[in-house]
Amino acid sequence: MAKVFVTQHIGEAGVQTLREAGHDVIYRNETEPMTPAELQTAVRSAEGLVCLLTDRVDTAVLDVAPNLKMIANVAVGYDNIDVPAATERGILVSNTPDVLTETTADHAFALLLALARRIPEADAFMRAGKYEKFEMFPPLLGLDVYGKTLGIVGMGRIGAAVARRGALGFGMKVLYTANSEKTAVAQSLGAQKVSLPELLRQSDFVSINVPLTPETRHLFTLDTLRQMKPTACLINTARGPVVKEDDLLTALREGIIWGAALDVFEAEPQMTPGLADYHERLVVAPHLGSATGETREKMVETAVTNLIAGLAGNTPPNALNAEQLS
Ligand code: DGY
Repeated sequence: MAKVFVTQHIGEAGVQTLREAGHDVIYRNETEPMTPAELQTAVRSAEGLVCLLTDRVDTAVLDVAPNLKMIANVAVGYDNIDVPAATERGILVSNTPDVLTETTADHAFALLLALARRIPEADAFMRAGKYEKFEMFPPLLGLDVYGKTLGIVGMGRIGAAVARRGALGFGMKVLYTANSEKTAVAQSLGAQKVSLPELLRQSDFVSINVPLTPETRHLFTLDTLRQMKPTACLINTARGPVVKEDDLLTALREGIIWGAALDVFEAEPQMTPGLADYHERLVVAPHLGSATGETREKMVETAVTNLIAGLAGNTPPNALNAEQLS
């Protein structure tokens, strides 16, 4: 039996599973994240931690949790956790890949289509009673999606799922950047690996699918955006800080790119001042990539399965640092 602390609301099912596995669970059933000081107090005696992407698990937290053996993040991204520092302290860390891949790719495509066909603007137009007559060339002219070029920045699991939707569903030509060699899925789609400047130069839609790392932070600045076509769209469902929001706002205002769709923000839950008031060709959502009931339940189940395995001395299915620890 281990002491497990669950930082935020994850639903009763996951907590029940942890209790059935014999663990002593303290469940903070709240939807607001704790302050750093509160988190540091709460983890002092914990051996297992279940946390969300809004919980920053840094050295200040790890240093006051001498009994901590494992951290199970309920997210695929883990930039909220200092994994190298956890590894140094012998603490296992896991994430929740796979279960959210298709759901997040659906959302990326939903945003892409909503932006290209200006659905939020059209919705607001209708509700404001502005639809008075059919026009051949209405103010809300959109962009074609089918047959265009889709640039995937980061051909990991989610990037590949977005690419598949573009190539097979919309006949798009797919370009991508990736650290690894050509993946089987890229090959089957006829996708072409190119440099980032080349991808930016050619793509009509650029989908960001990289994790947040020191290398990808502010990968998209005014300089990067200027390399895109003035008719191109940027879609970010990865992590907000990959895009410098101030620069994006400038790019939108000055027509450097056609539009943007953002599910993630530089300083969530805030948006850069100015961006929230900017409505034209900008679609925004509150980090909903994996937000379907089914997928969020699977994410919790995955995190809990990982934690139970790790606390039992087994390698969790989605351990991020098991090799370094062994
Ligand atoms: C993740 O899992 O990293 C997603 O951003 C959460 O929706």
